[in-house]
Amino acid sequence: MSLSIVILAAGQGKRMKSNLPKVLQPLAGVPLLGHVLNTARALQAADIHVVYGHGGDQVRAAFASEAIQWALQAEQLGTGHALAQALPAIADEQAVLVLYGDVPLTRPETLQPLLDAVGRGAVGLLSVKLADATGYGRIVRNNTGQVVRIVEHKDANTKERAINEANTGLLAANAGQLRRWLSQLKNDNAQGEYYLTDIITMAVRDGVNVEAVLAPNEAEVLGVNDKVQLAEVEAHLRRRRATELMLQGATLADPARIDIRGEVTVGKDVFINVNVVLVGKVQLDDGVRIGPNCYIKDTQIGVGTELHANSVTDQAVVGPNCIIGPYARLRPDAELADNVHIGNFVEVKKSRIGSGSKANHLTYLGDATVGAKVNIGAGTVTVNYDGVNKYRTEIGDNAFVGSGSMLIAPVKIGEGANTGAGSTITKDAPAGKLTLGRARQVTLDGWKRPVKKT
Ligand code: UD1
Ligand code: MG
Repeated sequence: MSLSIVILAAGQGKRMKSNLPKVLQPLAGVPLLGHVLNTARALQAADIHVVYGHGGDQVRAAFASEAIQWALQAEQLGTGHALAQALPAIADEQAVLVLYGDVPLTRPETLQPLLDAVGRGAVGLLSVKLADATGYGRIVRNNTGQVVRIVEHKDANTKERAINEANTGLLAANAGQLRRWLSQLKNDNAQGEYYLTDIITMAVRDGVNVEAVLAPNEAEVLGVNDKVQLAEVEAHLRRRRATELMLQGATLADPARIDIRGEVTVGKDVFINVNVVLVGKVQLDDGVRIGPNCYIKDTQIGVGTELHANSVTDQAVVGPNCIIGPYARLRPDAELADNVHIGNFVEVKKSRIGSGSKANHLTYLGDATVGAKVNIGAGTVTVNYDGVNKYRTEIGDNAFVGSGSMLIAPVKIGEGANTGAGSTITKDAPAGKLTLGRARQVTLDGWKRPVKKT
């Protein structure tokens, strides 16, 4: 049975009070619709259709590179009408799963039973038990417990409003049957809309079984209509991802105070302190320790390395047993071997730092290749930029760069070379020698301290 997924996303989202269309609002750094698309892909849909309307061009542009069939719903005449816009592109024998662009947390395994129902020739719908189901459509069952219809809150009587099994809106059915039922929809209801939910009555009339599957929890079916709900959904997702990390073996100082906006893999005995933000593809190997308030993006960190408080990394590769920070910044293409120390207020960009080397204080290393066991003194700067071009600095193994050295690139510091503190090095410093590039110290005997003019 081949599957087509239709994502309804034509709603306006006025309550977001935003210039950004609702389904583009970021949840954990990814647009709401992106989360739904990930779920659709995980279910191995043969094709994915998105019904769009308001803000459509912006939505299409945001997903331009993805294999999506777009269906325009120019006027929002209801969920049934929305689905009908996508159906012409779907063959009769397909199974169709309807998802909402603003319901981002549904897991593939929660939706699978709906598809299984279609496999049995039934209609599958996802329902949820709610303490307060105000506003939702209610699942009406007969006295043998079979689903007979869905009644929208606005059309429901008092007895129906007392039903606590709500419709999530997510459902699956055979495309041919859907096509027939949708063509029969009427809008003679409280909202004057073509309700997708009315197909349930038609299925029952045609002797097609309707299987309502209860969602395992409320979070998975939460819809996002305003910024308050966006924050609620974000909190659920944070908790879910933190739980995944803990199950992978990480210890979190507080699972409520970590943000995971990407794909994170952790080894054994990783410890993550509070207020850490992980973005993109992050890999933390066995025994890595992350201090409080670190921002780690697209970075790989080797076994046993410790990142102290307030450090920031972006597209860096850090080897094993390094000590980074506090207040260190590793920028794109910072590549650290093992046992490297990068201390406070040290910035590393597009540079390779060899095994056992140290830059512990107030330093900029950009476009540099640093050998093994090098000591970079406090306040050293690789002067890599002349305002137009960038140049490289090469520092050999065992070199000792004195504090406050300005290394004017392109320049080489030889193996075992030593530069005197405060030197401005404009020419290569030979291996094994002390090179000084600074004015000789003088003391002026006749000097007098200036006095205030009267
Ligand atoms: C719908 C269901 C209701 C269910 C509720 C769950 C119907 C008639 N009702 O109600 O039973 O309890 O969801 O949240 O289906 N959309 C379009 N085009 C339209 C209308 C809606 O694309 O013309 C999209 C919206 O962008 C949204 C989804 O469909 O993603 C649901 O629309 P919404 O207006 O929120 O439906 P409800 O009235 O809440
Ligand atoms: Mg709604």
